[in-house]
Amino acid sequence: MADEKLIKDLELSDKTFNEFRDFIYELTGLYFSVEKRIILTRKLKNRIVKLGLNSFEQYLHILRTQNIKQEINFLFEAITINESYFFRNELQFHSFYKFIIPDILGSKANDNIIRVWSSACSTGEEAYTIAMIFQEKIKPLFPELQLQVIGSDINNSSLEFARKGTYQHYSIQNVPELYLKKYFLQQGNNYIVSDEIKKLVRFININIYNDKQINNVRNCDVIFSCNVMIYYDLSSRKIIVNNLYNSLNKNGYLFIGYTESLHGISKSFKLVHLPQALAYKKEY
Ligand SMILES: C[S@@+](CC[C@H](N)C(=O)[O-])C[C@H]1O[C@@H](n2cnc3c(N)ncnc32)[C@H](O)[C@@H]1O
Repeated sequence: MADEKLIKDLELSDKTFNEFRDFIYELTGLYFSVEKRIILTRKLKNRIVKLGLNSFEQYLHILRTQNIKQEINFLFEAITINESYFFRNELQFHSFYKFIIPDILGSKANDNIIRVWSSACSTGEEAYTIAMIFQEKIKPLFPELQLQVIGSDINNSSLEFARKGTYQHYSIQNVPELYLKKYFLQQGNNYIVSDEIKKLVRFININIYNDKQINNVRNCDVIFSCNVMIYYDLSSRKIIVNNLYNSLNKNGYLFIGYTESLHGISKSFKLVHLPQALAYKKEY
């Protein structure tokens, strides 16, 4: 009850909202417009009271001056939207094994490893879907081929969840029956990703807006960066796409969300119309 009163009494002034907005923008490229002020206020209020602080100003001061990694991570967790599920963009995955992988293999010399990056992987569904499709559709045709999947996000709680690989009904509702039987272990209401799939995927914390952090992931053949750029403004999207471009191999492909486009963001990629999906190819 006392907490509820404290939460209610906290006020975010225009000046402090602008300072928070700029601080978050500098760090992540995420722009909190005035319409999102209510969401930001609600999320941060709970945290401020939990930390025993009594104003937004105090919290901002701590974030700025003490640079506590854990607190910055919390901030990321508070401001990100992490909805995801297996086989989300099904037609993209279809194109991935039918057209993209054969095309990449055609241009790769003496290299038996395919590197795929799920660059805003949230709780891991996209990264594991890629690994399952590889095992089911690609491995039987190219038994020598190895897959490395990197799943990354700025939200540490999501990454922790992904590493555990235990999901409920919402996440698995699009999974075809065959995959469900082969690549999950069902325990009550839980669906646990099999070890065979888990060992193909590595989860790490990377901010795709940050060009220094992105240096940790290079030489990718395919990057999935789906349903993340929608949260960014034009200039941040340009930075993100340029970062992803630098992490791709020549002849590599970028997939973005169905509602997203690189129009006005980058001319470096060639837009490729696949039978049921769009992809962006790095040709130079
Ligand atoms: C809506 S989820 C999309 C998950 C998955 N790609 C999909 O399509 O199902 C967006 C994710 O992007 C992550 N994200 C937002 N900004 C990011 C950044 N700068 N670097 C890495 N991940 C980021 C969020 O934490 C969140 O987990």
